Amino acid sequence: MDHFLYRDGVLHAEDVALPAIAAAVGTPVYVYSTATLARHYRLFDEALAPLPHLVCYSVKSNGNLAVIATLARLGAGADVVSGGEYRKARAAGIPGERIVFSGVGKTRTEMRAALEGGIRQFNVESEPELLALSEVAAGIGATAPVALRVNPDVDAGTHDKIATGRKTDKFGIPLARASEVYRLAARLPGLRVEGIDVHIGSQLTDLAPFEAAYLRVADLTRQLRAEGHPITRLDLGGGLGIPYTRSNEPPPLPADYGALIRRTVGDLGCEVVIEPGRLIAGNAGVLLASVIWVKRGEGRDFVILDAGMNDLIRPAMYGAHHDIVPVAEPAAGAALAPFDVVGPVCETADTFARARMLPPLAEGALVAFRSAGAYGAVMASEYNARPLVPEVLVERDHFAVIRARPTFDELLARDTMPPWL
Ligand code: LLP
Repeated sequence: MDHFLYRDGVLHAEDVALPAIAAAVGTPVYVYSTATLARHYRLFDEALAPLPHLVCYSVKSNGNLAVIATLARLGAGADVVSGGEYRKARAAGIPGERIVFSGVGKTRTEMRAALEGGIRQFNVESEPELLALSEVAAGIGATAPVALRVNPDVDAGTHDKIATGRKTDKFGIPLARASEVYRLAARLPGLRVEGIDVHIGSQLTDLAPFEAAYLRVADLTRQLRAEGHPITRLDLGGGLGIPYTRSNEPPPLPADYGALIRRTVGDLGCEVVIEPGRLIAGNAGVLLASVIWVKRGEGRDFVILDAGMNDLIRPAMYGAHHDIVPVAEPAAGAALAPFDVVGPVCETADTFARARMLPPLAEGALVAFRSAGAYGAVMASEYNARPLVPEVLVERDHFAVIRARPTFDELLARDTMPPWL
């Protein structure tokens, strides 16, 4: 459930009519709903309530400081994958002890910054990383809390580019080698082994792969404990999918996912960490755009928007589907016709949808891409010298710009001339 609904024939974000935001900020613009963010966070928190747990919001899905701060106020931790995300989480008010640091390629500089700033856990993905972390921590007299990310060799059954738990993926330490690497970790200075980490992919719409992975983690916990490692925390990653279209069977709910976690690892007495991103932010945001032209082609008609693949890259990158709805509610029974919905960027990849059934749209009409709150603005670029798309946060009947659209002067000022020109 989200808080983007038609009211009096106009699409609203909570109590704010989207045309009011378009008039104030211009389009394209991302619009997020505070109530939806909060609701999604709480669903996870409640689903894990019977266990000692921490919901670490995956900052990569939407890293706007105001979005992170909204979740921080509710008690969320953060899952970060770079020094920049660590800085953002801290700046938004998440204490170091509530931050887990994931990622296959942490640098020594990033490790040091997190150790100095405070961190709940490093999710270590390889032996070279483990050795480097030990060296960095021992070098500054710190102890790094560590979980090893294991690769359970489970196919998440999601898009190939966002599956991470197969043995051919770059992520994690193969289960078969886990015991050996835990032994190494226990011997190294500057490390304190506390847990196991796993993350098998994103946009999972079936619980079975989670179940397979978590059962393997439960077995590994027992095995490692028997080998003398005090495993006290399980980080089970993120990945629960969201409904991108209202017509399909909805994916499992956070409550079902929580029940699965309790069933698979609940009896181990561990603190459970989860790292959801998309389910918290995805349906809490829309990308609002305007129709520039409607162009009659040969055999197909195009709706050309002022939003492009640089603003929302998921359709071009993953062939992803986003519902596109007119902001002015179409009359009941309005005739629909097929349109290719495209942006202004100069390549054919800048196509959001082919033969999408839409009601008549005039020049200047507003449309909203649904489910765009996660992996939308964070993946935006300034390709074609299009200023970075701005972001707005709505709370009940008011809204604020939480990232302003850069001016052309700012855009130009970012490049600097070498002395010979
Ligand atoms: N934890 C780790 C270690 C991750 O790599 C990810 C996502 C998450 C948590 C959060 O997963 P979520 O709950 O959001 O599914 N750009 C792609 C998605 C990439 C996901 C990367 N990792 C897309 O637009 O679909």
